[in-house]
Amino acid sequence: MTDDDRQARGPLGPVLVIIPTYDEADNVAVIVDRVRSAVPEAHILVADDNSPDGTGKIADEIAASDDHVHVLHRRGKEGLGAAYLAGFRWGIERGYDVLVEMDADGSHQPEELHRLLDALPGADLVLGSRWVPGGKVVNWPKSREFLSRGGSLYSRVLLGVPIKDVTGGYRAFRRQTLEGLGMDEVASQGYCFQVDLAWRTVKSGFTVREVPITFVERERGDSKMSRAIVIEALWRVTAWGIGSRARRLLPGRR
Ligand code: GDD
Ligand code: MN
Repeated sequence: MTDDDRQARGPLGPVLVIIPTYDEADNVAVIVDRVRSAVPEAHILVADDNSPDGTGKIADEIAASDDHVHVLHRRGKEGLGAAYLAGFRWGIERGYDVLVEMDADGSHQPEELHRLLDALPGADLVLGSRWVPGGKVVNWPKSREFLSRGGSLYSRVLLGVPIKDVTGGYRAFRRQTLEGLGMDEVASQGYCFQVDLAWRTVKSGFTVREVPITFVERERGDSKMSRAIVIEALWRVTAWGIGSRARRLLPGRR
């Protein structure tokens, strides 16, 4: 990182966009390119879980000719949550002050990233939200929309988090927020990682803002959403909800 990078975002400090990948060979070059054009001062970290389709190698080739692009090679598929946690640690160690989560498949449009960054001076976490006025989803089957809206509503009610799109994965964290929310205790592997982090952020007293985004379903490659991921999310959110209620009913026990 150069001094220019450090100063480019003014008081926000240097920005790292973390892009987890698993079999995104058809998408990785496109997304990196779009981020580079949309927010030229940001750095990018591709966090690849040793994708069998060679995504990691493609990312290495891009990184070799662009000093704003970095690659974190992980040994195998360990889930979205684990990839992000490793990416956050990588970025914090290297002095980035803003850490962004973004999917590789184009669902999170890099051209909307400035909206998240522009809201960060007034918040500790900014969420790109599909379910606030102005937010949208393009090309999703009704069944997927139902699952996402239902998952968000269930988590919101059970955990009492005042966030409309609590499962969403387009986010900008301040470094201090990640440092303060207890990253080391996060065990969620799959997509409930998103709910976990949002809930921890709220519980730790940080300010969360949602800004509307248009989520565009992928055109290339496959979603990694699976039954196992949905089940992990359901049982973890339920257990967190019951656990936190029990703690409130039984004061003195933690
Ligand atoms: N490194 C790594 N390891 N990356 C992964 C893994 C993994 O085990 N699983 C998924 N990814 C990457 C994908 O390659 C992609 O870049 C991103 O994570 C999102 O995966 P998708 O499979 O495209 O997710 P989705 O479209 O079904 O889900 C999106 O919406 C959910 C909420 O409805 C994501 O944004 C989720 O984070 C979000 O919870
Ligand atoms: Mn996707």
